[in-house]
Amino acid sequence: MHRASWILVAAVLIATACTSISSSEDAALLTRAQQLFKPLPADAGTPERPLDQDRIQLGRALFFEPRLSVDDRISCATCHQPSFYGAEPLAVSMGPSGKLLPRNTPTIFNTALQFSQHYGGNRSDVEDQAVRSLTSPFAYQQKDLAAAEVKLRSLPGYRALFEKAFPGQSDPVTVQNLGLAIGAYERVLLTPAPFDRYLKGDTGAISAQARRGLDKFMTTGCTGCHNGVVLGGQSYQKFGVTQDYWTLTGSKPNDVHKGIDKGRFQDTKNEADSFMFKVQQLRNVAVTPPYFHDGSVARLEDAVRIMAKLQLGRDLPPADVADIVAFLESLTGEVPANFAQAPILPVTLSSR
Ligand code: HEC
Ligand code: HEC
Repeated sequence: MHRASWILVAAVLIATACTSISSSEDAALLTRAQQLFKPLPADAGTPERPLDQDRIQLGRALFFEPRLSVDDRISCATCHQPSFYGAEPLAVSMGPSGKLLPRNTPTIFNTALQFSQHYGGNRSDVEDQAVRSLTSPFAYQQKDLAAAEVKLRSLPGYRALFEKAFPGQSDPVTVQNLGLAIGAYERVLLTPAPFDRYLKGDTGAISAQARRGLDKFMTTGCTGCHNGVVLGGQSYQKFGVTQDYWTLTGSKPNDVHKGIDKGRFQDTKNEADSFMFKVQQLRNVAVTPPYFHDGSVARLEDAVRIMAKLQLGRDLPPADVADIVAFLESLTGEVPANFAQAPILPVTLSSR
């Protein structure tokens, strides 16, 4: 054989060895990831919360319905906006008559898969959350659920939709059924992302940098809290394990909490719950700034760096932060078509 051919054979052998080393590393990384994370299911329905199209369509109309609020101006979509991935770009949200809320609006996507709702976990599930928004001073401002139900019954065009979604009930226009319908809608607002394709075995579905970031996300210890199908949303943890959170986030005291936000404590008044917050899910995190319960941090790079320091006592080098951010970007899905556009509300149909 010619010398050149030997060189060629050697080169081919080396290249094959390298690819098989890197592909076995890729396979090992995937196996570790599959032990900690799960791809999104098709929907978040359960035996107790069955889903059907009539319920989902009613829930969609109610989600975009401003006439449920006292002044006919606020709907769920006012704050959970289609153009901002079901979240809001303001640091803290603004309720009726310009009243500032103490907290940032999280995304509505995939939230049904978290084990409770709100940063302090004071809403048991999406159905409970929807019903209680009606009387929240920050959302619909109805005096009580009875007043909310009177308002609901007064809206033209809805009775037929409720009858279709809750067949066999003699009087289906109730706030409980409103909760079930809005909940059904939220249970289909799931956003599969490149990371789901990766978890199902397509290792090329996310970039080499995102795979490095995934590795660092696991080895740094982020997965101690952010794991499972939505990378969080399954436990309450202290925010600020190694030092007070506001020393790095710059969070300020607020009027509603009469001081700094103490998370779950605000509702339970139990000292053991001080500074305990729901571990926020991380799906679509790259497209839903600003970050943390009060939107105190604008950039994802800073949120990652601050998390490593506050929760794990680690100073992450900028290259690691960039890799983890690339991984988090692989959690971005697409805005579902039935959310991207507001539906035609019943009044328009009945006045035609
Ligand atoms: C005025 C703005 C505003 C309106 C209107 C509003 N929300 Fe929200 N939403 C928020 C804010 C702010 C939070 C965070 C509250 C907290 O954690 O204490 C939130 C939290 C949530 C959560 C929990 C998300 C999570 O990650 O825990 C769900 C679900 C939700 N809202 C659904 C709805 C629905 C359904 C409606 C309509 C019935 C609605 N929201 C109306 C601002 C709003
Ligand atoms: C000990 C538990 C714990 C660990 C470890 C942890 N986190 Fe968190 N993470 C939380 C909690 C709790 C929150 C919610 C804090 C808040 O908003 O007040 C959160 C919020 C976040 C947010 C903001 C989400 C949003 O939508 O505002 C990001 C980003 C984040 N974590 C990334 C990370 C990364 C990256 C790591 C590893 C470097 C990490 N976390 C480690 C508990 C943890």
